[in-house]
Amino acid sequence: MYNPYAELSPADIEQRLAAAEACMNDWQKQGLNLDLTRGKPSTEQLDMVSGLGFDQLLSSTDHYAADGTDCRNYGALAGLAEMRALFGGLLEVPAAQVIVHNNSSLKLMYDLVVQCLLTGPPGGSGPWSRLDRVAALCPAPGYDRHFALAASLGLELLPVRMREDGPDMDQVEELVRDPAVKLMFAVPQYSNPDGVVYSGTVCRRLAEMEASPGFCVIWDNAYRFHHLVDEPELCPAILPLAAEAGNPDRFFEFISTSKISYAGSGIAAVAASPRNVEWLLGSLFYQTIGPDKMNQLRHLRLLEAAGGLEALMERHAELLRPKFRLASDMLSARHGNGAVVSWLEPRGGYFIGLHLARGLARAVVAECARCGVKLTAAGAAWPYGHDPEDSCLRLAPTCPTLTELETAMKVLCDAIEVCALRQAAGVLS
Ligand SMILES: Cc1ncc(COP(=O)(O)O)c(C=O)c1O
Repeated sequence: MYNPYAELSPADIEQRLAAAEACMNDWQKQGLNLDLTRGKPSTEQLDMVSGLGFDQLLSSTDHYAADGTDCRNYGALAGLAEMRALFGGLLEVPAAQVIVHNNSSLKLMYDLVVQCLLTGPPGGSGPWSRLDRVAALCPAPGYDRHFALAASLGLELLPVRMREDGPDMDQVEELVRDPAVKLMFAVPQYSNPDGVVYSGTVCRRLAEMEASPGFCVIWDNAYRFHHLVDEPELCPAILPLAAEAGNPDRFFEFISTSKISYAGSGIAAVAASPRNVEWLLGSLFYQTIGPDKMNQLRHLRLLEAAGGLEALMERHAELLRPKFRLASDMLSARHGNGAVVSWLEPRGGYFIGLHLARGLARAVVAECARCGVKLTAAGAAWPYGHDPEDSCLRLAPTCPTLTELETAMKVLCDAIEVCALRQAAGVLS
């Protein structure tokens, strides 16, 4: 990305910069308090789910799953059979390859890495904690919490370039030759933050490539069902592909209903090979006598009440589309897509990843903060918070109201202009 303002004459830069500075000072005086940092469902979305009766779906006598399991009691360590079958169908694996647990998929990912450190995954060469170095491949820009999770457990983070069809596979295949590389993160459908969908070729290469024994991929399909367009491009189901490639144990696939029902009270699941499921259950056995099955039953009832998952996700999309459209249209109208800032048109997921001219991201975040608009910290989408070009920003347009979003986007568009002009004038701090 280049800064087109650098092509203006010095006199033009000076004149436009004075006007842009005045505009930012006006914003500052308004005392705004707006937040584009949180990839959370909006209150409207949560109300829509409540409106389907989610809180009252289980009557005082509805405690039994289809197989007779009394959901109030202990048991069903791997989750309700019906729920496992439902997720299995969605992820194209047998129900026996799915574990349905409590509300957070991130927690399941953390537990997986801890278990790898303690015992090592099946097919590996023992506990990762015994190794001098354990490294994780981190497609970047990516999900900050993945990187923080791995770093907090002592893993070394190795950034991998993201392209428009997924991670740069030449780089992945090169890096994975290092025997210390034991883990990779992937958000294959609408990556956080760019909204990239991994192509079939990328998925096949990931499934087929040579890697050290026990190398595993956290296949975080958090946005698998979160489409904004009518005919979404779908990333292929990875577990059948991996089995076909002769690497059935490579992928642990995670999903949750955090952005389907209630983000704070959903259910999460992990799907994996039969051997990996057995291994995970072996550790889960010592942690709990069973998950919250009443919530699983409530989710089954919710999907019935909503007319199925697709219909429920369409209701979410109806609430989200205007926000993504507004953010993208305002950026296009003001800056065009491709000069000082570029982004992939949102097709699904919860974020828009902005790519600014080099050296502008931190300055734009600071300028927005000065004017009362919070953005995710620049660099957050990179391992160790270090964006080598200082160019990536993550926008989360889902949570604010449309009116709040419109104001926040005006401030952002103005902040991009003022920072680009300061850079062109050589006065960007
Ligand atoms: C890619 C990704 N994975 C996982 C999560 C968190 O999932 P959960 O609520 O199931 O822990 C998020 C939340 O924003 C996310 O963006």
